[in-house]
Amino acid sequence: MKQQEQWSSKLGFILSAAGSAIGLGAIWKFPYTAGQNGGGAFFLIFILFTLLLGLPLLLAEFSIGRTAQRNAVDSYRSIAPNTKWHWLGGLGMVTSFLLLSFYSVIGGWILIYLFKAITGDLTGLTSEEYAEVFGNTISDPFMSVFVQLLFILVTILVVSKGIRNGIERVSKFMMPALFVLFLVLVVRAVSLDGAMEGIRFILQPDFSKVTSSTILNALGQSFFTLSLGVSVMVTYSSYLSKSQSLPRSAVSIVGLNIFIVLLAGLAIFPAVFSFGLEPGSGPVLLFNVLPTVFSQMPGGILFFIAFIVLFLFAAWTSAFSMLEIVVSVLSKGNDAKRRKWAWIIGIGIFIVGIPSTLSYGVLADFTIFGKTVFDLADYAVSNVLLPLGSLLISIFVPLKMKKSDLYEELKHGSGLKRGLFETWYFLLRYVAPVLIFLVMLDVLGIY
Ligand code: PHE
Repeated sequence: MKQQEQWSSKLGFILSAAGSAIGLGAIWKFPYTAGQNGGGAFFLIFILFTLLLGLPLLLAEFSIGRTAQRNAVDSYRSIAPNTKWHWLGGLGMVTSFLLLSFYSVIGGWILIYLFKAITGDLTGLTSEEYAEVFGNTISDPFMSVFVQLLFILVTILVVSKGIRNGIERVSKFMMPALFVLFLVLVVRAVSLDGAMEGIRFILQPDFSKVTSSTILNALGQSFFTLSLGVSVMVTYSSYLSKSQSLPRSAVSIVGLNIFIVLLAGLAIFPAVFSFGLEPGSGPVLLFNVLPTVFSQMPGGILFFIAFIVLFLFAAWTSAFSMLEIVVSVLSKGNDAKRRKWAWIIGIGIFIVGIPSTLSYGVLADFTIFGKTVFDLADYAVSNVLLPLGSLLISIFVPLKMKKSDLYEELKHGSGLKRGLFETWYFLLRYVAPVLIFLVMLDVLGIY
């Protein structure tokens, strides 16, 4: 078998995979989706899905990747030769491509915020003024396309350097720093006047607000934040040595992920209520809340800048994984090809992403099925393609991989207990496909 590049350490793998998982999903998308879906109940359903489906599926992707030790497409091909299952890797490539095309729009917004914070444009305003600054910024077509390009260029540069020198190196210092700053932000937010209402909003479930779309969104959110269903985790685990424990890594990543989502909720909602902002205001929520909170703190602007930098890195480490899966398939371990494809695909993603960027400006009134291009791409990825990919993975693993081999693969380096293994297998084989299928029927409007 051709030797692939490997992570330099277990920690490097965990932080890179957590880096892929923790990104805009946890920090930006979760608060605004929770805000639109009743808060606490959404959070609770999200946690249930993450533990019941997310964790088993993450482990399923890990076992595919490390068993095969190949890129996303060839992994399926080597486990199930002469079948069409490698199309599942292809589905992951297409989904990642589309995902990065709108993910980079938000990446660009963060860059703008960083510039504005540094130049002092974001200090001393009222929350209405912050909202106005934000609105003007993202509707400026040249600026928003320019920063989107910048965000993608950095992603291309890091991915073209490969695993150890690129992705792992950046993730290792950035993730711990993000935790620390998030804690500072939470402490500040929960001590604001009127914070209690926000804490209650996110921690106290109100089930009267739950509709089928709450459930669908919570499922989408849970797959989105864990980077599931696009074979990113297949790809990342293919670079992991056989001596590392997959279950322990998966539990750490899921734990970190839930923790960050909780911190995001606790950082944002107390502030939203304290400043009388609207929790259901959508994608702009975080961008309006952050400067408002930070500007009330002593030395706030420095914390603000630090937070934006980390937020940016969180977005980048996720973006790396999206580009990586596509590039690793096309370059097949060849460094020169890796560089070439990183550029070709990266620029392709930028071009495809332009209409999404303009959805907040000149294309705001252009809608398909009642959604702007940005919203449509987001909906297709989060609520259709990610669950579909996960559904197929939950069918693939029990169907095409021997149970005894799976047990061996998961046991390496961990001595996994049989009972836990059986639980995982049961959740993956019976619970995951049925639940995902039921929730997906909702997308098709069956209920
Ligand atoms: N998990 C990432 C985030 O929350 C998004 C992502 C999804 C990344 C799927 C890769 C694959 O921001």
